Amino acid sequence: MILSIESSCDDSSIAITEIETHKLLYHKKISQEHEHACYGGVVPELASRLHAVALPRILEETKPWFDKLKAVAVTNQPGLGVTLLEGIAMAKTLAVLLEIPLIPVHHLKGHIYSLFIEKPTRFPMLVLLISGGHTMVIRVESFEKMEILATSMDDSVGESFDKTAKMMGLCYPGGPIIEEMARRGDENRFDLPVPLRNSKLIAFSLSGLKNAVRLTVESLGGSEAMSEQDKCDLAASFQKAVKLHLLQKSKKIFKQEPVKDFAIVGGASANLYLRNAYEKLCDEFGKTLHVAPLEYCSDNAAMIGRYALDAYARNAYADDPNSVDLIVTKKQKNNTLL
Ligand code: KG4
Ligand code: ZN
Repeated sequence: MILSIESSCDDSSIAITEIETHKLLYHKKISQEHEHACYGGVVPELASRLHAVALPRILEETKPWFDKLKAVAVTNQPGLGVTLLEGIAMAKTLAVLLEIPLIPVHHLKGHIYSLFIEKPTRFPMLVLLISGGHTMVIRVESFEKMEILATSMDDSVGESFDKTAKMMGLCYPGGPIIEEMARRGDENRFDLPVPLRNSKLIAFSLSGLKNAVRLTVESLGGSEAMSEQDKCDLAASFQKAVKLHLLQKSKKIFKQEPVKDFAIVGGASANLYLRNAYEKLCDEFGKTLHVAPLEYCSDNAAMIGRYALDAYARNAYADDPNSVDLIVTKKQKNNTLL
């Protein structure tokens, strides 16, 4: 069995995965969303203090499995340094005490592996990763080979939902709130610009759209002067522009990539409006859409554990846990997800 730990942002999570069967034996996540809600985003120092309380509490419940553990896995990049360190410190201590190897896990690869929780891997796969920290399309050939085909030049998709919510005086995380309000809104009321609409670039950009939302809020007299219906209409118009942007760039990629299997992962992949749009696009291009179950779209230790199974099978671990550390920045060489 492998015990996995995730603490890259505002979710404290631990999972136990069985090596032979890939079964998820235990999974718990304590989210800090409520604690950060009034700040409009994650406050790193507060997040790290909350991890320091939540992680040991969850770990306590996993004690019955300790003597069966073959390895510990932990997210060590990318993410908030001070929160990653909480998980890494715990993972190192466990690995040293139990005398088992430590598997460092790249958080984005974890999101890709959220597709394979309690399932076999399926490669090659074209993956759109839309989270709070990243927006990119990755061609996943194998465990070893993951090539980035497109990224955001500025904000990520999740971040743009969070900032739009904040500008309308709504709470963090903005994604689920905007999606819910958009269901009650008129997506054609505000004509927001679809980013990079006339550009040949295969890249994403969301900061211009964010600015258009800000100007619209101002034109309505500020968030406090906006009615509930104004907010629902703006949420819907914003979400529509994000959808059109993602679809336009994805179409370009679909035209040049023959890979049949396409997936959306990351926190914003829980958005059903976006999922439906991709369902149609995949039909049109003869691709099969894959998504993770809703509970595994946002950060969780089950996906870290699933990736760790494949790493363990390839001996991709550190025998000396002390050699595993937080990786603050990693240069992308040749667009490979390292
Ligand atoms: O993957 P994740 O949990 O954390 C990162 O790795 O960043 O993603 C969190 C992000 C937040 O920005 C949140 O607003 C967004 O995912 N999100 C959504 C939805 N649910 C979560 N965005 C759009 N629609 C949603 N339903
Ligand atoms: Zn994430």
